[in-house]
Amino acid sequence: MRKKDIYILGIESSCDETAAAVVKNGRQVLSNIIASQIMVHRKFGGVVPEIASRKHVEQVLPVIDAALAQAGVALADIDAVAVTYGPGLVGALLVGLSAAKSLAWAAGKPLIGVNHLEGHVFANFLTDPDLEPPFLALVVSGGHTALLKVTGYNSFELLGQTRDDAAGEAFDKIARVMGMPYPGGPEIEKLARTGNSQAIEFPRAMLDNPYEFSFSGLKSAVINYLHNEEQADRPVHKADVAASFQEAVTDVLVQKSVAALEAAELKDIVLAGGVSANQVLQDKLAAAAHRVGARLVHPEKILCTDNAVMIACRGYYQFMDGEASGLDLNADPSLKLG
Ligand code: KG4
Ligand code: ZN
Repeated sequence: MRKKDIYILGIESSCDETAAAVVKNGRQVLSNIIASQIMVHRKFGGVVPEIASRKHVEQVLPVIDAALAQAGVALADIDAVAVTYGPGLVGALLVGLSAAKSLAWAAGKPLIGVNHLEGHVFANFLTDPDLEPPFLALVVSGGHTALLKVTGYNSFELLGQTRDDAAGEAFDKIARVMGMPYPGGPEIEKLARTGNSQAIEFPRAMLDNPYEFSFSGLKSAVINYLHNEEQADRPVHKADVAASFQEAVTDVLVQKSVAALEAAELKDIVLAGGVSANQVLQDKLAAAAHRVGARLVHPEKILCTDNAVMIACRGYYQFMDGEASGLDLNADPSLKLG
């Protein structure tokens, strides 16, 4: 007998993107709708939680309708509704979660609560149809930096994470002090293209624990450098600062990832989270992985930052494992990895 196709509706609203998507059999993207609020938050220099919640309320139903329409699938054809329940901004999470619960209840479909960070990791399954666990994941988003061993579709082992700032947070803060708009990562990357990455020697915190990260010292070093140059009335070459900062962040990320890859004897490493869009990180990590006989997989650009395709993909594997959430599922703003 032919296996039945499984359709998952994914919903994501953890930060400043309202997104919905339909994914067939875990890996086939039928639709991917993202309503970004970046321009709304830009004038405040970062995401304003209250505004984010209100924008999600405005966008969530039209975005879900558009995702179903683009996929050519009716709600009745959906097998389960997968939704991000954390981590993220609580008010933002609650909007997507409430919409998902209502739809699941009204249509009599199972609800599946998805960890947003696991979703970022699963974005790689959509880019590389042959990718299978076990593999290592370097999770680098606005709020998290972690090394995760993915031992199976539903089993993870956290190797280490950041003690202070996340990599994306460091990009955003440095961009902000240099007068660039939110989000800072893409701005720093653009500016760094015209700079010299060897111009300034910023610190690389390697720490005793090989799998833990710390970016607060680097952040302070860049801010102090800018301050000292200004005090001394010397002109600052912002492109050199951006390139040297990016070099320091990516050096640490790459070195620690490769150490973990070798220790765990894994053949694949994947990038996950917004910072995975960074071309310098992708290039350096691909080359370093290659040197130790491993290969890098990274999501295609549109799936690097927040989206609902990754949530539907993660939800599919939970669904296939018989997992379902109750309608009393609550948002968990500080939900952990692993
Ligand atoms: O995963 P994401 O979209 O949202 C969270 O779950 O946090 O990640 C957003 C983060 C921001 O800090 C943003 O500056 C960073 O990803 N980012 C980048 C790039 N694109 C986005 N950082 C460095 N280079 C980029 N090209
Ligand atoms: Zn994210």
